[in-house]
Amino acid sequence: MIKIFDDYFVLETENTSYIFGVDEAKHLIHYYYGKKIELKDNEIDNLKSRREFAVGNGISYSEDKHKITMESQLLEVSFLGKGDIRNPLIDLTYEDGSSTSDFTFVKAETRTHTKMKTLPTSYDDKYKIEELVVSLIDEIHEVKIKVIYTPFYNENVITRRLEIISRSDKEIIVNKAMSLQLDMVNKDFDFISFHGSWIREMQKYVQPCIIGTISSESICGVSSSRSNPFVMLASKNANETYGEVYAFNLVYSGNHLESVETDTYSHIRFLTGIHPYTFKYILNKGDVFETPEAIMTYSSNGFTTMSHNMHNFVSKHIVRGEWRDVPRPILNNSWEAAYFKFDQAKLLQMARKASKAGIELFVLDDGWFGERNDDTKALGDWYDNKKKLPQGLKGLSKKINNLGMDFGIWVEPEMISENSKLYRDHPDWVIKNPNTTQSLGRHQMILDLSQDEVVNYLIDVFSDVFTRSNCKYVKWDMNRIFSDYFSQKLDKKHMKELSHRYYIGFYRLMEVLTSRFPHILFEGCSSGGNRFDLGILSYFPQIWASDNSDARARMDIQQGYSYGYPLSTLGCHVSDIPNHQTLRNCSLTTRYNVAFFGNLGYEFNLNEISKEDYKEVVRQIEEYKKYRNYLFNGDFYRISSKDGYYHFEVVSKDKKHAAYLYFQTTNKSINDEMFLDFKGLSNEMEYVIHSLDYHHNILDFGGLVNQISPIHIKNGSGLHKLLSKFIKMNEKGEHIFSSGSLLNNSLLPVYNAFVGTGFNEKTRLMFDNDSRLYLVDSKE
Ligand code: DGJ
Repeated sequence: MIKIFDDYFVLETENTSYIFGVDEAKHLIHYYYGKKIELKDNEIDNLKSRREFAVGNGISYSEDKHKITMESQLLEVSFLGKGDIRNPLIDLTYEDGSSTSDFTFVKAETRTHTKMKTLPTSYDDKYKIEELVVSLIDEIHEVKIKVIYTPFYNENVITRRLEIISRSDKEIIVNKAMSLQLDMVNKDFDFISFHGSWIREMQKYVQPCIIGTISSESICGVSSSRSNPFVMLASKNANETYGEVYAFNLVYSGNHLESVETDTYSHIRFLTGIHPYTFKYILNKGDVFETPEAIMTYSSNGFTTMSHNMHNFVSKHIVRGEWRDVPRPILNNSWEAAYFKFDQAKLLQMARKASKAGIELFVLDDGWFGERNDDTKALGDWYDNKKKLPQGLKGLSKKINNLGMDFGIWVEPEMISENSKLYRDHPDWVIKNPNTTQSLGRHQMILDLSQDEVVNYLIDVFSDVFTRSNCKYVKWDMNRIFSDYFSQKLDKKHMKELSHRYYIGFYRLMEVLTSRFPHILFEGCSSGGNRFDLGILSYFPQIWASDNSDARARMDIQQGYSYGYPLSTLGCHVSDIPNHQTLRNCSLTTRYNVAFFGNLGYEFNLNEISKEDYKEVVRQIEEYKKYRNYLFNGDFYRISSKDGYYHFEVVSKDKKHAAYLYFQTTNKSINDEMFLDFKGLSNEMEYVIHSLDYHHNILDFGGLVNQISPIHIKNGSGLHKLLSKFIKMNEKGEHIFSSGSLLNNSLLPVYNAFVGTGFNEKTRLMFDNDSRLYLVDSKE
């Protein structure tokens, strides 16, 4: 809801208010963002600074408005040169070489929420939502700014973006144009951001905002696993259910910067937008520069509410298309099962077993095209490798369909290998400076998507790949970061536009292909989560969260994502052991329990697992198929993750079903008594909570078997191994009935863990990196 008053504006969502206005110098001043408040007559004055004198040795805005020192104001739009000495939102250079701007208020009006011309935009398909457009002008330089705010009422999210419009005959250089600025008084905030690398995405870092600037940023050309654009500002004592939390994200996939600056007056300035480094944009008369849309939300009661706001927003207003609300198919991917070494016979052998197990989608990963037998060549040569696939993608796909499964395909459209026909034909289509030696990443280069010709070519090539393969799923990979920023088609003056122009081309490519193939489920990937962001999610409903599918590592990775992204956006697979990234061995059930909290897939050849494991996979698939219908887009709770013990829960929107995961990294005997701490169930409903029966292998208990064996068994002996085939240590699954109100308000004890003092069927036998999944259904 948007309210326009004489000299101030109120944006309202269900639980938040955002208030700003115009001061006597006609600058936009920030008054309030937080818990919803109702302003009575003249109460707006109570949000305004009562400063009567300029700050010492500061700059007065003008002699007639002497007390205004921009440095000490909370601004909505900051710029250089008029006394504000903090990091600016906008930095422009004018033709005379100056960078002093002065943007003052012209008008504010509402209009229906609009789609941007060059970049992806949030949307609402249910209501005709409105946006507030505030126009500012720098009269001297004839440049306008529109600040566009869109409140999403039910999700408690407000988005904000800028348009910079030149009306000048002279050239204007945009050096920096951030999307969102939030100036507040520092209430002892922590800046919380998510960093990592390949196979170590989304690790949470907390830094206190004391003085100066701290940031989360990427200049590697992609949003990156190094620094995700989702960040938070939280009061120092905030936890899942308590404290103030502001959270932000950016609908963009390229270089980004989130900075938070604390000045000596204890003000805090948060900025997010395109990273100004490696960026510049030149505007001529009539040109409009659109910044990416930024997202903000606020919770007065901790991280869980903040995450629910973000999840609901991303699920309904970022993710779009036929797959938005549809639980995703369970897939079997060929990558870790076969890497580059496969032929049609091997794939079909895999697919047959997968289909029998109930898997719905078979995905052929890298290696199906050109001379692609390793990762040194052939990217760009998107024709079928007939040695591996004699009847091509078409023939293979048909055979997979005949097995009752859909067919999915891996592609890496933005990339090109030096050793490829495409490169030999079009060396100038590549991001590369022909006068220097090119640096490669995974032996490959990046196509220059700032060139329309290249994007048009890719549209044609991939329309053909998707059509001839009759695929229902596409894994869209991107396996290197940027270097050697140079377009062979841009002139010197415009060269620094490349990093942004690349994304304008990239979004056009995605827009055309996803609209042309609306039934295809696209999954983004960039060596796992190197480009996990809202720009990608505006086209692809899910992203492969990490190449690391080790259950232990995944607990932190998936927990990291869960702060800003719903589970429905995460690709989560069960892979082989020892794990190919960490060499760790987690049980098959635990690998599944963790992958359950996302879109499930399998990364191994089901012919190569034991009969017992195959039976377990079949059980998992059956269970997942049932619960995905309830829990897809459910409410996720991070209940705790202290000392290596993780508790996650997801509750269906109608509160009739839930799943609760307990994961322990190390088996410390201090934690033998375990309690489940349910959240979000209905106080009016009754529930049954159930867990699996476990039949543990007696080999796992070594010499301890002698405690129950009438004869002595040597640990690891032939006899021990033989007996292990027939005798199991049984742990009975739990079946607990309880009211929702009891579960919501009290801790639920479950079986004690084994601590060396005795064992019966009512003892949890848990190892390091082990877990239990409790499924919850309402009694109806
Ligand atoms: C990186 C991806 O993250 C993997 O899952 C796999 O698709 C490989 N690329 C294939 O080259």
